[in-house]
Amino acid sequence: MIDIHCHILPQIDDGPRNINDCLGMANAAVGNGITDLFATPHHLNGQYENSKKKILNRILEINKLLQKENIPLTVYPGQELRLHREIFISIEMDDVLTLGDKGQYLLLELPSGEVPTYAREVVYELLLKGITPIIVHPERNRALSADIHLLFELVQEGALTQLTSGSILGHYGKRIKSFSEKIIEHNLAHFIASDAHNTDLRGFSLQEAYERVTKKFGINRTFYFNENAELLINGQNIYRQEPVPVRKRILGIF
Ligand SMILES: [Fe+2]
Repeated sequence: MIDIHCHILPQIDDGPRNINDCLGMANAAVGNGITDLFATPHHLNGQYENSKKKILNRILEINKLLQKENIPLTVYPGQELRLHREIFISIEMDDVLTLGDKGQYLLLELPSGEVPTYAREVVYELLLKGITPIIVHPERNRALSADIHLLFELVQEGALTQLTSGSILGHYGKRIKSFSEKIIEHNLAHFIASDAHNTDLRGFSLQEAYERVTKKFGINRTFYFNENAELLINGQNIYRQEPVPVRKRILGIF
């Protein structure tokens, strides 16, 4: 399996605190059936800054280490970029790292409580540059869960989305779990990833999440998510199911 979002690089963000924890995570990923993963440190989220250059250097080191330790896992570069107004300045400065450094897909994090008014414009402008944003864990955003139509609009604009395995499994509570299911029902999800930070509460549970999706939505839906991760790693266009329109809330009646 391929995991497109996790925090496995040591001492760079709120992921592993040292090399040993990092190797523990690598072994846990392999144990979960993961063969390839994207290391996607936080960038410009108000707490961490991890530029493209810094991450690329660390990717070389970790792959060497994994080889030395005989851990059958390949790590690809990535970044989890927080949406901000100066995003295009960051891109101009060559600070932003797309998945696999291929210039095609970018993990984009919304602020947890809101969807900024300029979000759709950023999606549009990124697409014009040939970069497709993948909005990470939309199920954890309070504004989106209050009004799924906002997510529908972003997907209609051309954004992709990634649900987190722990959300599907209920690790973040019932509300987030049921909103994750609603997102899948409306064909508004394109990937599932671990967003693992450690081997404890925020670990790899991709296998379990796919099992849950198979149980609830059928094996074809699991194939769809799996295949999209494969298409992404190969630099190909991913599948998009036609989003199911959402009725707009009118005075909170619907
Ligand atoms: Fe993350």
